[in-house]
Amino acid sequence: MINKCFDPFPELETDRLILRQVEEGDLEQLFEMLSDAEVAKFDYFYPINSKEEAMNFIGRYRKELEKNEEITWGVILKETNELIGTCCFGDFNDGARRTEIGYDITQKQWNKGYATEALKAIIDYGFNVMNLNRIEATITPGNNASIKVLEKLNFVQEGIVRERDLIKGKLEDGIIMSILKREY
Ligand SMILES: CC(C)(COP(=O)(O)OP(=O)(O)OC[C@H]1O[C@@H](n2cnc3c(N)ncnc32)[C@H](O)[C@@H]1OP(=O)(O)O)[C@@H](O)C(=O)NCCC(=O)NCCS
Repeated sequence: MINKCFDPFPELETDRLILRQVEEGDLEQLFEMLSDAEVAKFDYFYPINSKEEAMNFIGRYRKELEKNEEITWGVILKETNELIGTCCFGDFNDGARRTEIGYDITQKQWNKGYATEALKAIIDYGFNVMNLNRIEATITPGNNASIKVLEKLNFVQEGIVRERDLIKGKLEDGIIMSILKREY
């Protein structure tokens, strides 16, 4: 079984980042990230238009955590103490010890290695503490930065699932990538 003891919230630390629960105080930075059409481009959600919608995201992260359906970490840059992204595990399969990973970084912080650094920390946590066997990701074709991040973390491409996800009203294929505990 997967260990989903998320109380207290499992805070993680890397060289440059703290990964902790997203709080109301992160609202400005979360809004900046989620209102950016470039960040939302390959995802199911449309860029948000208001702080209330950003608050709804925070409420949703909390509810999903309470129900053990998803855990979302806020990615906090130590240098400024500001939220620069989020990363999550969700869609758990307890028997198979499997999860899906997700992540977003605010555009002005792209290409500085932050996604790779944050994901490495939660992958370590997933295999060592949560007892996961498989972590998978679904990437919309064209999202080459996302594929690159996963390749740097030793994920392998397994194939393409046709018309898997509804992205901005259009059915898109999904590239499936994964990493297994035994190869990590
Ligand atoms: C994908 C994303 C999280 C990457 O975050 P990041 O902090 O910039 O990632 P990193 O800096 O750790 O690594 C990015 C890598 O992609 C490379 N890259 C960037 N743009 C690229 C592109 N268009 N094509 C190919 N590689 C690209 C960078 O050069 C870097 O590789 P390198 O370290 O070998 O130079 C960020 O671009 C993002 O938030 N995108 C929008 C949301 C999203 O797509 N989330 C993932 C959904 S599956």
